[in-house]
Amino acid sequence: MTALRLTEVTTGNVRDACRLAVAPHQQEHVALVAQSLAEAYAQPDVAWPRLIYADDELVGFVMGCFDPDCPIEYFRCGIWRLNIADGQQGKGYGRFAVEAVLDEARRRGSDAATVFWVPGEHGPERFYLRLGFRPTGRIVEGQVLGRLEL
Ligand SMILES: CC(C)(COP(=O)(O)OP(=O)(O)OC[C@H]1O[C@@H](n2cnc3c(N)ncnc32)[C@H](O)[C@@H]1OP(=O)(O)O)[C@@H](O)C(=O)NCCC(=O)NCCS
Repeated sequence: MTALRLTEVTTGNVRDACRLAVAPHQQEHVALVAQSLAEAYAQPDVAWPRLIYADDELVGFVMGCFDPDCPIEYFRCGIWRLNIADGQQGKGYGRFAVEAVLDEARRRGSDAATVFWVPGEHGPERFYLRLGFRPTGRIVEGQVLGRLEL
């Protein structure tokens, strides 16, 4: 059975992290890992970046967002980024990563989590619906705002 785990980004794994790539037709749906890490560097108290390993193989990247005092409610807690490598999708790694962020959110006392997704044929909408997120009806800068009660 494959052992899944999240790890922090370190000097030893950051280059491999920056080489993670989703399928070409998915690239418009998520930022490059390097961009996400730059954003995490700029907001270290808010961003929660983690690498996803299956046994000893790096298979993805997830970034949670925890900013409980943010005046904009939907930025207080959620999934900020999720990239499962091309060739590693459909194996439950995305679900594992989202559930790990939700566990961290519960540990911090959050009562809901949000995510934004770009609508479209190759987007992650059905993935997030499958995991229990529901559209709020709000569209922010062209992205659907989804929410899940914890
Ligand atoms: C979306 C993404 C994160 C899903 O990760 P994944 O590891 O392939 O998904 P999982 O294998 O964990 O799937 C979990 C469940 O969602 C379902 N699912 C995943 N992608 C789906 C899709 N495109 N359509 C329908 N169902 C889907 C799976 O069938 C599975 O259901 P099950 O638990 O009942 O078997 C991945 O495809 C990805 O990285 N996409 C490109 C980047 C992206 O869009 N990121 C999100 C930015 S907000």
